[in-house]
Amino acid sequence: MRKALCVLSALLATASLASAQTPVYLDETKPIDERVEDALSRMTVEEKIKLIHAQSKFSSSGVPRLGIPELWTTDGPHGIRPEVFWDEWDQAGWTNDSCVAFPALTCLAATWNEEMAHLYGKSIGEEALYRGKDVLLGPGVNIYRTPLNGRNFEYMGEDPYLAGEMVVPYVIGVQENGVAVCVKHFALNNHEVNRHNTNVVVDDRTLYEIYLPAFKAAVQKGHAWSVMGSYNLYKEQHASHNEYLLNDILKGEWGFDGAVISDWGATHDTYQAVKNGLDLEFGTGTDGLHSASRNSYDNYHLGLPYLDMIKDGTVGTEELDDKVRRVLKLIFRTAMNSGRGFGSFCSDEHYAAARRIGGEGVVLLKNEGDALPVDFDKPGSKILVVGENAVKMMTVGGGSSSLKVQREISPLEGIRERAGEGVEVMYARGYVGDVSGEYNGVTSGQDLSETRSGEELLAEAVSMARDADCVIFIGGLNKSVNQDCEDSDRKGLGLPYDQDKVISALAEVTDRLVYVNISGNAVAMPWIDDVEAVLQAWYIGSEAGHVIADVLSGDVNPSGKLPFTFPAVLEDCPAHSLGEYTGVHVRDTVDIEYKEGIYVGYRWADMQKKSKPLFAFGHGLSYTSFSYGKPVIDVKKISPDGKATVSVDVTNTGQVEGKETVQLYISDKSSSLPRPVKELKGFRKISLKPGETATVSFEIDRESLSFFDPERHEWIAEPGKFEAIVASASDDIRGKVAFELAE
Ligand code: GLC
Repeated sequence: MRKALCVLSALLATASLASAQTPVYLDETKPIDERVEDALSRMTVEEKIKLIHAQSKFSSSGVPRLGIPELWTTDGPHGIRPEVFWDEWDQAGWTNDSCVAFPALTCLAATWNEEMAHLYGKSIGEEALYRGKDVLLGPGVNIYRTPLNGRNFEYMGEDPYLAGEMVVPYVIGVQENGVAVCVKHFALNNHEVNRHNTNVVVDDRTLYEIYLPAFKAAVQKGHAWSVMGSYNLYKEQHASHNEYLLNDILKGEWGFDGAVISDWGATHDTYQAVKNGLDLEFGTGTDGLHSASRNSYDNYHLGLPYLDMIKDGTVGTEELDDKVRRVLKLIFRTAMNSGRGFGSFCSDEHYAAARRIGGEGVVLLKNEGDALPVDFDKPGSKILVVGENAVKMMTVGGGSSSLKVQREISPLEGIRERAGEGVEVMYARGYVGDVSGEYNGVTSGQDLSETRSGEELLAEAVSMARDADCVIFIGGLNKSVNQDCEDSDRKGLGLPYDQDKVISALAEVTDRLVYVNISGNAVAMPWIDDVEAVLQAWYIGSEAGHVIADVLSGDVNPSGKLPFTFPAVLEDCPAHSLGEYTGVHVRDTVDIEYKEGIYVGYRWADMQKKSKPLFAFGHGLSYTSFSYGKPVIDVKKISPDGKATVSVDVTNTGQVEGKETVQLYISDKSSSLPRPVKELKGFRKISLKPGETATVSFEIDRESLSFFDPERHEWIAEPGKFEAIVASASDDIRGKVAFELAE
């Protein structure tokens, strides 16, 4: 007995000693808020100030004295940016940081497949974790308002519902690794020209119905651990310290408990940074670490200037403690999360994921006379590949999402690898685009220099096309300045470098011309009637060539759908017909009013009588075909808080297995405020074997029927008549069923 008591007392002593030794903030068995309060109570005001701003280009300090580690952030949404010097944008020259480039987020959105979004987040999160990064500076979910926006390729299209549904699994997948996302750019960063001084003027209804939902979904359904404030202004305040967007909406209405991180150089005012919801300041322009008399990071708004304001009584410390709580929580969830494993980097699984996502995201826009798939296995056949984009590296460039990759398979390489015995794959450049290949010190290593003239290149391509069985033109944009690139917009809808001329000339000499468009934006296609097939192929990253060959050959049956409208001409886009969109730089703040309001993309196209899109939102063909039965609804009159289920049978009526994304749109037949003809409120991607039929069901509730009433400042669903519309594309309606919402 005595012995047992001795052992027990020794154990208790050890336990109490241990608990005395393990402070609450370090004890991961304790609730996170308790740990935060404990850490906060131990910190000096100087330590609190140091915690809420950067210490280097991409890191912020922890609390060394308490063993609270630094926080390391990294770009970007498509892969892990290579290491830069402490206080520079340029390369640190590491040799262990060449990553996998996953497809651009427009491609992910085009999969319309939440599973792909989760696979994407999981994979890129593992790469970030392996590289020792705690915060991934992505994904971006700014709405596609104009096809000229230089960064649309980093985002998820024109529809808030699609972007919202696709961003949530990505967020969950990344954060399962103990790596935080930083959803960006919050908010209203819809073009790049004047990005630092555009003051967006937009009505509340449009803000809440179009520009906020994807961020709200990322925060409320994805539980994003951080959000990045954008460069532009809203209501005359910069978005990275904006009382309306950050205090009232993000933290107030949505209950966001994470940290707001500024965009790099997006913080302009100390008092606003203190009062208007900024928690962690990065990238502020100071005179660097070289000439400054002291560590210039101390000169950040949330650095010593803030401390001075506290000391002279201008502000109290309640905002400081709130910021510190949020940053501590971010650190506890990531850098201090001992259970988060070690990630993985450049694994076969990550390449396979990139290839799978790309294969589900490529969109077959046109396919006449079965020009596609191409038979790559017919001995003696001759295939001509034309275009600089068939060989040019696309993972270098485009701005902060630029990458240093372990490998990138070009379209030409992918096609040559896929071609069977006896199949000749020829190449002609066709034109000269951008021979550069460098961003931030990362070089593509390609020599694209060219001595021949445009005429010679054109003549060569045309003559080779004459005796080719099939001509595949790989064109589009290339992430150079003004060609899908951060901090610059495109100057027009057309293809650059006279590609149209080459495409038209080729169409004259072949009846089997396939155009593969590599871009993150819609482009004009004046030659569309002369080209048998068109693929939208995105910036697919490391596996680009494999994915393009997979789809061209039919090894993968394309199943992507457009996440944004392809207008025939720029004026068909309301940002340009109604405005305002600015194409000129001005020195100080410039107001841009979103005059089209909620009528963005197909919401606008559906109302036009005279014009129609070149390709519609949600459009995407397959190598098979699908028929739809008549949609049915189980409740004709839904009670105010009730639900209904819309079901429709879909059959694969073709010869090969394929995936179809069934889209559900809701049309409100009588509303007190004007509403679009229809709005996307559901989608389901299904795989069907030839002849197979599946029943696809969608649940409708009051959220699906609601619109935002700015007067009441809330979402409301008005009783009355509605229609559920099932479609294969926004312009390819396969059935409607009427129902009512009861009083
Ligand atoms: C850039 C971008 C942002 C990026 C950050 C760090 O200017 O706007 O998306 O994450 O700065 O590179």
